[in-house]
Amino acid sequence: MAFLCRRSMNLKAVTFLLLGTSFLALRLLLLQQFQSQPEEEEDSTDVPTAAAELSALTPESPCVANASANSVAGFEQLPARIQDFLRYRHCRQFPLLWDAPSKCAGRHAVFLLLAVKSAPANYERRELIRRTWGQERSDRGRPVRRLFLLGTPDPQEAAGAPQLAELVGLEAREHGDVLQWAFTDTFLNLTLKHLHLLEWLAVRCPRARFLLSCDDDVFVHTANVLRFLEAQSPDRHLFTGQLMRGSVPVRESWNKYFVPPQLFPGEVYPAYCSGGGFLLSSHTAQALRVAARHTPLFPIDDAYLGMCLQQVHLEPSGHEGIRPYGVRLPGVQHSAFDPCMYRELLLVHRFAPYQMLLMWKALHSPTLSCDRGHRSS
Ligand SMILES: *[C@@H]1O[C@H](CO)[C@@H](O)[C@H](O)[C@H]1NC(C)=O
Ligand SMILES: *[C@@H]1O[C@H](CO)[C@@H](O)[C@H](O)[C@H]1NC(C)=O
Repeated sequence: MAFLCRRSMNLKAVTFLLLGTSFLALRLLLLQQFQSQPEEEEDSTDVPTAAAELSALTPESPCVANASANSVAGFEQLPARIQDFLRYRHCRQFPLLWDAPSKCAGRHAVFLLLAVKSAPANYERRELIRRTWGQERSDRGRPVRRLFLLGTPDPQEAAGAPQLAELVGLEAREHGDVLQWAFTDTFLNLTLKHLHLLEWLAVRCPRARFLLSCDDDVFVHTANVLRFLEAQSPDRHLFTGQLMRGSVPVRESWNKYFVPPQLFPGEVYPAYCSGGGFLLSSHTAQALRVAARHTPLFPIDDAYLGMCLQQVHLEPSGHEGIRPYGVRLPGVQHSAFDPCMYRELLLVHRFAPYQMLLMWKALHSPTLSCDRGHRSS
């Protein structure tokens, strides 16, 4: 009995010891995890957040036209599209038709988000961008993600609107890279894409470090963009592209860029970067989001962002490598399509889809050699 008792006591002791050590081990493990958490926090997932925040992406009720917009002096003489703009100027929030809720999910915060303004019908351009410079990737652990910003087909132009809606749905499901809002995709509504993107970012992708905003007919040298951003801080102001300083409003009503004095009485726009393509930091995106809330809508999207920057006393800057107006090098014998000319650039405007593919291939060709004054690396 005594023996047994001893044995059971030993057993108890052993069990106790075992339990004790495993408890200790568990504690150590938990402690370790807890301690390593601050490091991981930075890399934790952008979780699609609470319903309250999501409601920020959804308007409460449809926006109706402002019936007293026609009290603006000279309203009847304005072109129909400007009248239309004035009627809907106060409408800033439209329903999101296609979302990309997990675009920024993942262990690492998105380093560069490529936000491409595209119209529903521009399918080929989107497809080429997906295959070339817009490929999603991880650049040494820094995720690069892609989004297309779409409105809805213009009912007047698109007899095939139902088909386009189907196409956009197909792309959204297949690639998860489509944000579509329920406003008409017209030139004068482009400003709405920026406003909606800024709000979307705050909810879905608040930790994205940098944003490249561009048209769908530009060629981007993504590696050069990443190299440039390496030296930048997401927490400091950055808004850079082709700088437009002293740009004046176009007063000819037939012109695409026409802005009547009723909309902008001033003589010169605040400095801005051409909307063909520009880069900004997370810091500046947040500042713009706040500024935009206090800046009445304006139909020229890039000039509008200039107004918002001015609101918060931030200056846009020029970047040599961003050429939304194309490259013209006087006296140089290269053809406009020489890949060597593009090796140092970040972004160039006006590329047909097939040119995009050819340029991408050429730039990545192992046999590409650029001498005659071109830096080779
Ligand atoms: C409607 O238009 C009038 C005339 O421009 C303007 O004064 C008023 O503020 C507008 N209303 C809204 C809700 O924007
Ligand atoms: C902008 O989109 C709204 C909503 O679809 C539409 O009613 C309005 O006509 C559009 N404005 C312009 C100027 O195209």
